[in-house]
Order: sequence, then structure tokens, then C-alpha cells
Amino acid sequence: MAIERTLSIIKPDATKKNLLGKIIARFEEEGLTIAGVRKVWLSQQEAEGFYAVHKARPFFGELVEFMTSGPCVVMCLEGEDAIARNREIMGATNPADAAEGTLRKLYADSIGENAVHGSDSAENAAIEVAYFFRSTELF
Ligand code: CMP
Repeated sequence: MAIERTLSIIKPDATKKNLLGKIIARFEEEGLTIAGVRKVWLSQQEAEGFYAVHKARPFFGELVEFMTSGPCVVMCLEGEDAIARNREIMGATNPADAAEGTLRKLYADSIGENAVHGSDSAENAAIEVAYFFRSTELF
């Protein structure tokens, strides 16, 4: 295992439900640290750019509309095996399939409004962290 960095987004549904503190506390309790954090309201262009890999999917328009519907919190999480750990803590993309106790099981309403995002690979983690943070903003 290695110390890794990964991107986490607390999405507009969770932000609207006042869940920022609970979600951030969970990451810290699980041993991940916050190397960088920022509250942002994504523009359409920023959301489309971030999710460009999903552009051809039928849900792309819905996804961009949701991600621009309110503020998000973007974080760079750091720790041992952070990419996989973050995904375990989040649970499956669809909250109906997510394991008990995971963030999506606890807080998400649907596959579209699923509370949190986390990078799915080392390659994407590097791209996604750089999408929101300069290296000088991470500690
Ligand atoms: P996320 O981990 O942010 O990565 C891509 C997002 O697309 C995913 O979470 C979901 O919010 C969304 N998504 C994936 N599949 C669907 C779907 N079938 N319908 C609506 N949204 C989806």
C-alpha cells in the first residue's frame, strides 16, 4: 500500500441537506486527511469538462444539470490506499446497491443524486485533483 491522493466531491444534494460536517468527519475517522478543500458552485462548462468521459451517456445532461444545481465541496483526500478507501467509504454508485454504513447508503437518494463522487483509478485521481487544485494548494 502507498500514500495516495484522490478527489472527493460532496455533491449538491448532500450540501443542501447540511451533511458537509458528517461526511468530512467520516473521512477523517477512517484515517484519510484533507490535503485540500474548497466550496464551489460549478458552471455548466466546468461540470461538462469534469464529466467529459460520460458525454455519450444518456444521463449526461441530467448529471450536468444536477451538478450545477447548487454548491459542492471538492476535496483532495490523502492517505494509505486513499483511492480504494474512499470508494469503500462511499459505497456503490447506486445507493440501492451500496453496503450498509457507506455514505451513499446513509445519505444518497438515487443513482443520479448520490451524495459523493470519488476518483476511480490512480490515473483519474491525478487528472481530477488537478482539475480543481494547484499543487501549491495541497498540504
Ligand atoms: P459519480 O461517481 O460522480 O460518477 C458519474 C456519475 O454519473 C455517477 O456518480 C452518478 O451520479 C451518475 N450516474 C451514473 N449512472 C447513472 C444513471 N444510470 N442515471 C443517472 N445518473 C447516473
